[in-house]
Amino acid sequence: MENQFIKYPDLADRTVVITGTNRGIGETLVKAFLGCQCRVIAVYRQDKPCISFPDIAEDRLILLKADIGDRTAFANWLTEFELSGNRVDILVNNAGVLKNTPLLECDENDWHYIMDVNLKNTFFLSQLFAKHMKKHGGGVIINASSFAAKIAAGNCGIYAASKSALQALTKCMAAEWAPYGIRVNGFMPGMIPTRMSAPAIARKQDQLINDISLHRFGTTEEVANAVLFLASNAASYITGIDLEVSGGKFLIQDPESPWL
Ligand SMILES: NC(=O)c1ccc[n+]([C@@H]2O[C@H](COP(=O)([O-])OP(=O)(O)OC[C@H]3O[C@@H](n4cnc5c(N)ncnc54)[C@H](OP(=O)(O)O)[C@@H]3O)[C@@H](O)[C@H]2O)c1
Repeated sequence: MENQFIKYPDLADRTVVITGTNRGIGETLVKAFLGCQCRVIAVYRQDKPCISFPDIAEDRLILLKADIGDRTAFANWLTEFELSGNRVDILVNNAGVLKNTPLLECDENDWHYIMDVNLKNTFFLSQLFAKHMKKHGGGVIINASSFAAKIAAGNCGIYAASKSALQALTKCMAAEWAPYGIRVNGFMPGMIPTRMSAPAIARKQDQLINDISLHRFGTTEEVANAVLFLASNAASYITGIDLEVSGGKFLIQDPESPWL
């Protein structure tokens, strides 16, 4: 299990806060950072994450139950954490929601459901941790973007808009917070089998694979390796980008071209 992740020695003993960790990409991110000897604060909202990881010291994995919209809970936790002589080095804003609704049918509840999590709460959580990182001389923030921000996808316009706006904010946060030693980047998964992508994969697996140059879906481990890279000093001169992890999705106009 441990060997499937790239090891970045500079990440050892760093403290990383990851949201949305009870399943999918977030659960794998927890294992990836533990594999780099980080101390991980795994944020979950409802179901407690069940992380199995070999030989893990008790203080290396802390489970924090909080909705990312509950800024008071995060602020209180952070103050207490800091008062005990700790600091947070890395924040991974992985939590996200998707609801498939045609644009002609969606209503304001759909709008708030998606925008609040993917954009508003993600931003204000970043702001809270950025203030902390500024005080401590720097840090890294990494946001879960989406391929939907790049190319239109049916029935998920509000989701696409939330991720596009997050991409814009990623760039602005990177620019404004660079003087404080804070790097801000995003990762843009293509199609990774998780609970979020399961309905789309069930509906049109073959078509989706056909659009991917590597001709397969990605794994949560492959996404985690990209996130580890962005968090590490290997990316010390990289800020304000969205790193695409899509296996070359939509690289070619005609996937049936004769030279393929
Ligand atoms: N899978 C893909 O192909 C793909 C593609 C593009 C982008 N992404 C992005 O990658 C990220 C992870 O996706 P995934 O596929 O792993 O999704 P997932 O399996 O649906 O997991 C989403 C996670 O976010 C958590 N979450 C949602 N709202 C929250 C809130 N208000 N507070 C705290 N946690 C909350 C969920 O917790 P609960 O269990 O409590 O709901 C869950 O742990 C998302 O931001 C997604 O948009 C994924």
